Amino acid sequence: MSTQPWWQTTVVYQIYPRSFRDTTGNGIGDLPGITEKLDYLATTLGVGAIWISPFYKSPMADFGYDVADYTSVDPMFGTINDFDVLLDAVHERGMKLIIDWVPNHSSDEHPWFIESRSSRDNPKRDWYVWREPSPDGSPPNNWVSSFGGPAWNYDDHTGQYYLCTFTKKQADLNWRNPEVQEAMFDDLMFWLDRGVDGIRVDVAHYVMKDPRLRDNPRLTARPMTITKDHGEYDMFEHLYDKGHVDNHALYRDVRALLDSYQPERFSIGEIHLSDWEEWASYYGDLDELHLPFNFSLLHSPWTAADIGERVAAVEAAVPAGGWPSYVLGNHDDSRIATRFGEQHMPVAAMLLLTLRGLPTLYYGDELAIPERFIPAEEQLDPHGRSLPGAGRDGCRTPMQWDNSHNGGFSPHGAAAPWLPLTDDWQDRNVAEQLEDPQSLLSLYRTLLSYRDSSAVLQSGDYREVDAPDGCFAFTRGEGSLTIALNFTDVTLELGFSGKVAVTTYLDDVAAPGVLRPNEGLIIEPG
Ligand code: GLC
Repeated sequence: MSTQPWWQTTVVYQIYPRSFRDTTGNGIGDLPGITEKLDYLATTLGVGAIWISPFYKSPMADFGYDVADYTSVDPMFGTINDFDVLLDAVHERGMKLIIDWVPNHSSDEHPWFIESRSSRDNPKRDWYVWREPSPDGSPPNNWVSSFGGPAWNYDDHTGQYYLCTFTKKQADLNWRNPEVQEAMFDDLMFWLDRGVDGIRVDVAHYVMKDPRLRDNPRLTARPMTITKDHGEYDMFEHLYDKGHVDNHALYRDVRALLDSYQPERFSIGEIHLSDWEEWASYYGDLDELHLPFNFSLLHSPWTAADIGERVAAVEAAVPAGGWPSYVLGNHDDSRIATRFGEQHMPVAAMLLLTLRGLPTLYYGDELAIPERFIPAEEQLDPHGRSLPGAGRDGCRTPMQWDNSHNGGFSPHGAAAPWLPLTDDWQDRNVAEQLEDPQSLLSLYRTLLSYRDSSAVLQSGDYREVDAPDGCFAFTRGEGSLTIALNFTDVTLELGFSGKVAVTTYLDDVAAPGVLRPNEGLIIEPG
């Protein structure tokens, strides 16, 4: 029996609830839709945990990342009873449920903010970050929003600015006020008491800012380390508007709260940092976040050398006793099938599911759903509207289940889905790929089932091994398994021997000494 905690041996599947399955016919996915598809997740696919992006009451200015009530279900997604039914059904299948926790900001329609905004001497005024205008009436400092424009919005009624790191409808909470921490922890306990198994912490390192709100230094050039365009935001060194060292005390408190529950509750933080030391600091002495998300593969060029370098950096950065995490796609980045190229998806699947660490798989990536092009003027995403090219609608299109009406996303007679399906939905869907023994979905099923029965893949150590150019190879479990991945379109000769346990080609002619173009192998001792 493994003594490892569940979050080290499982595989997480991320669900964007608007886009998974619509049971009401309003064109938007819902919680009963997730419940309906649990057998697909637990049995057909074989993942062990799901993370659901926000489903709380929200005006949907940032599609749920603007929370108006942390202890409710938006009617669009169902009811609290639907949530309880879902949670029970997840647990009945031996799976875990992770919810999104959005501590940095609430909606401006949250009752706390409505009160805070109502007058300068309201008791909740200090629950948010309010400041006087500069002498010329401009914002209090030079911080800019990650979605464009100043990170401050002027409130006519009380004559001050409030801080909003994302949209103007997302007001940053003031975590330096202990009442905020108390209220937010109370709301979190609402879900922990119901039995949720873990939280994904939204923009986890943004929460604590410089208490003096000093100006960020302006840069003369866009840093080379930036992989995704955030416009003007990229032209500052973000010394003061996020990443304050006081985050660590906060996450020790979060961890203590989670640790006060039995069975064990888990946290994984969204931490976009390219400085490995700072990134790893969020493990604390293994007393802060259980895991920081590691986005390095997601932003990597698709070459064996680049991927190998990044895995080495992660392995070196994770503290002793800590556990890595890997992710290739999510609701904020363009679809991997388009980013890396569809021919690379089988190797990407094997990479994600054989490295040492917790993998998170984004819904639809098991089918290689491509990015759907949606022109800037049609983008619903606030980021896409404020910065052309940055839109995230294209990676949030409805899940494609079969070739019936709307790809099986919504029932017959339903309203058009909130975003269009991809053009190839009639051929690229779960039903079609289940019929094809060599589809990407079949590969995911094979890999997940292999991993499920392999203690070596779940827990064994990781070592990179020498391989020809274009191939990235490593062993797991002190050499018990060798994984060899061909990142190129040509055949590579390998010096390996043994028995092929899985080939990404899913045929029976694979050989341990040769990698066909874009082939990945799991090799057992022969
Ligand atoms: C996180 C979410 C993203 C959201 C932002 C603001 O980065 O992943 O979708 O827009 O936080 O809440």
